[in-house]
Amino acid sequence: MSFSRRRFLLGAGGVLAAPLFPGLLRAAPAMPMADKRMAPQLAQPNQPLVNPATLARFVDALPLPPVARPIGQREHPAHPGRRLPLYRMEMRAFQARLHRDLPPTTLWGYQGSSPGPTLEARRDEPFLVEWANALPTHHLLPIDHSIHGAEKGRPDVRTVAHVHGARVGPNDDGWPEDAFAPGHSLLYRYPNAQEAATLWYHDHAMGITRLNIYAGLYGAYLLRDPEEQALALPSGDYELPLMLCDRLIARDGQLYYPVSDDPAAPWVSEAYGNATLCNGKLYPYLEAEPRRYRLRLINAANARHYELSLSSRRPFMQIGSDQGLLGTPLERMRVELYPAERADVVVDFSGLDGKTVELRQPSEPLLQFRVRSRDNKHAASVAVPAALRAVPRMDAATAVRERILTVGEMDDANGNAMMMTLGGHHWSDPITEDPVQDSVEIWSLVNLTGDAHPIHLHLVRFQILERRPYDLFAWNERKELKYTGPGQPPPPHEAGWKDTVRADADMVTRIIVRFEGEPGKYVWHCHLLEHEDNEMMRPFKLLPKA
Ligand code: C2O
Ligand code: CU
Repeated sequence: MSFSRRRFLLGAGGVLAAPLFPGLLRAAPAMPMADKRMAPQLAQPNQPLVNPATLARFVDALPLPPVARPIGQREHPAHPGRRLPLYRMEMRAFQARLHRDLPPTTLWGYQGSSPGPTLEARRDEPFLVEWANALPTHHLLPIDHSIHGAEKGRPDVRTVAHVHGARVGPNDDGWPEDAFAPGHSLLYRYPNAQEAATLWYHDHAMGITRLNIYAGLYGAYLLRDPEEQALALPSGDYELPLMLCDRLIARDGQLYYPVSDDPAAPWVSEAYGNATLCNGKLYPYLEAEPRRYRLRLINAANARHYELSLSSRRPFMQIGSDQGLLGTPLERMRVELYPAERADVVVDFSGLDGKTVELRQPSEPLLQFRVRSRDNKHAASVAVPAALRAVPRMDAATAVRERILTVGEMDDANGNAMMMTLGGHHWSDPITEDPVQDSVEIWSLVNLTGDAHPIHLHLVRFQILERRPYDLFAWNERKELKYTGPGQPPPPHEAGWKDTVRADADMVTRIIVRFEGEPGKYVWHCHLLEHEDNEMMRPFKLLPKA
């Protein structure tokens, strides 16, 4: 049995188990003494932190990020003479209040906003985005220079934007090593040649992604198509992105990012906060009408997963997952989202005139909807159609290859996990995953750790075949993959198109992927950002078909 470093960090020392952060930590198993002594500990914060439970709830309006507008047109890089809309997203530092009663916080965002402006795309209508880095040259948060890609000597501040879930060319995908310093920019082309889906963009700089996103570099990217439009789902004022993430906030209002007690290696294996931001605000409210709303739920947290419910005890109607619409709407009392996962849901406030409804985590309310009384100005919303889109199941027999890929960790001499790996490889090892364009493969993710990891593949969409229990001992002793029970097919809400899959502990999670796209190099990784930054990311190479 192997343990993730988080358990050492958060379990052994008990520094943070003090009432300083009630509810911040999860229970951790007792560790042997030797490990207790050797393992790095989560350091006591060097400043007092805000306890969000003491703040007034629902005093700030839910921010709705502005919709990005093109600043002009520019020639298509591959088709001279054809002009494409051009957007500009400038990353810069700015101040914002996370809550009415907190001092202003320095954040990093796009166009002075975190979440950044929402990019609205239509299928098969390409556009260009100039991602410009106008950030300061000193990082807001503590860099671990012992991590690959973040060594001393590189500019501390480096960024590169990636649209999560977009099928783009290899030079437009936010290759982590293409991160650039302040004063520079990159022009990326987005073909938008894929089905309607809730995508999002965020930073992807090698070795500091966790810090750049924590600082605020993320936003929504909504891709629409005529098929979806024809469903007459709630739109306009009745459709909103809702990006969730958790932070620690110092009493002076500034973001606090947790560090280990080793100043030469401050990386912690998972950063959890006790303040949940909804579109950048703590405990906001939204004035709503007694009708249906469409919410694009996006988990933008570094490591936290959400188990959302409504205090009205009405179900969410889930209509989509990561890569777009499901076949049919699903009534769900709870929506679970691991980092980077999305749920497209319709919530119905009709008949709740004058009442409030809270969006909740099990432990606390996050956002309050204040339902107005109906006036006659607004028509009632139409019901969600019973059929949304055809989602044909992919057939395992079409796969030309199955890859057995471990989700694991590298231990030091004392048995402490010091970094996370995929397939037992480091980022900089030679490429091992090299699917051929348009071929179908099965990737079987063998989780060797005691935790679930949300695994994301760039470029492609995929389906979950099954999660199947296996014998960890047989794997560790003989590298033998021995299943110990039948495969569990995905539940309906996970049976649509995905781009991020929860690889559960003690399971082999098997996904089936058609590798459509432009040949070249892309990445796949764990979306726990601390893991991703510390080796749980690998390149893959899409080979041209013969
Ligand atoms: Cu959300 Cu590699 O990305
Ligand atoms: Cu992970």
